[in-house]
Amino acid sequence: TGPKAVKIVEVGPRDGLQNEKQFVPTENKIEFINKLSQTGLKVIEATSFVSPKLVPQMSDAAEVMTKITRKPGVDYPVLVPNLTGLKKAISSDVKEIAIFASASETFSKKNINCTINESLERFQDVVDIANAERIAIRGYVSCVLGCPYEGEISPIAVATIAEKLYKMGCYEISLGDTIGVGTPGSLMRMLKAVGQVLPTERIALHCHDTYGQALANIYHALTSGIRVFDGSVAGLGGCPFAKGATGNVATEDVVYMLHGMGYETGIDLLELVRVGNYISQQLGRPNGSKAAVALSSK
Ligand code: HMG
Ligand code: MG
Repeated sequence: TGPKAVKIVEVGPRDGLQNEKQFVPTENKIEFINKLSQTGLKVIEATSFVSPKLVPQMSDAAEVMTKITRKPGVDYPVLVPNLTGLKKAISSDVKEIAIFASASETFSKKNINCTINESLERFQDVVDIANAERIAIRGYVSCVLGCPYEGEISPIAVATIAEKLYKMGCYEISLGDTIGVGTPGSLMRMLKAVGQVLPTERIALHCHDTYGQALANIYHALTSGIRVFDGSVAGLGGCPFAKGATGNVATEDVVYMLHGMGYETGIDLLELVRVGNYISQQLGRPNGSKAAVALSSK
């Protein structure tokens, strides 16, 4: 991985689908993930082992994980909120998990029904077992640039949680702009605080594009040395516990920008566009990636 290498974490099958009202048939999810595996992506967040009552769309997590074709060299992390989720993930032969905390106390309560401190205690138990099982652990911090309930979030609060997750053993911390309110201005202040407690190469940025700021934010993060970005093909996504949050930044748009800047992602953009068109068709909606729409009409 040279200085021009950028890692893309595709979160479409998880973040992209978790908020869909209509249940996406399990076989379509599997086909979606299998197609993504053929694009050159190295990380595909496949599903989440969360409460099926709260997030029915992800209730087929075990079936998805046992039936996808795992391509060698590709990681398929899953979200895990607690020990119940971890045990189910282990039964499905999961090799990587992502634990998810929040920089906002209210969002933590709404999202995972506990305080930030309680969540960290739970995650410590999850991490201990995951380590014993040699399962890799990624960490998320949500609401890093704003909270749907509390509004502004202090950069120090973000840095504090990010550092705790990192010290707990997460190999990478993904900073989530859950409701897409950040601008390069607020991002700069937040990254400055997080950069004081984490090595830059351990920081990932997870943008939702609600206010159309995602590419500007990613560009700013690139200039700050960040080389890992989450995206969702066709711009799918949203969070059931963050009202008004729209999809993640479209992976195709991120890849188009990165390749134009001379960065290497290992991703075949046209192949990715085809997969985005496939899932958009399955969901019966237009493709939310501008690059994909442009490339498809050529
Ligand atoms: P709780 O109700 O406090 O949990 O929920 P509990 O331990 O009291 O258990 C209640 C019931 O749920 C029990 O079943 C448990 O067995 C079951 P019952 O006895 O009533 O039949 N249960 C589970 N079942 C399956 N898998 C599990 C599990 N855990 C308990 N893992 C809990 C707490 C965390 C489980 C719940 O609040 C939850 O599942 N939350 C998940 C919310 C979620 O998925 N949010 C979206 C993902 S985060 C996100 O999108 C942000 C991100 O993209 C970054 C960003 O954009 O910022 C990552
Ligand atoms: Mg998200």
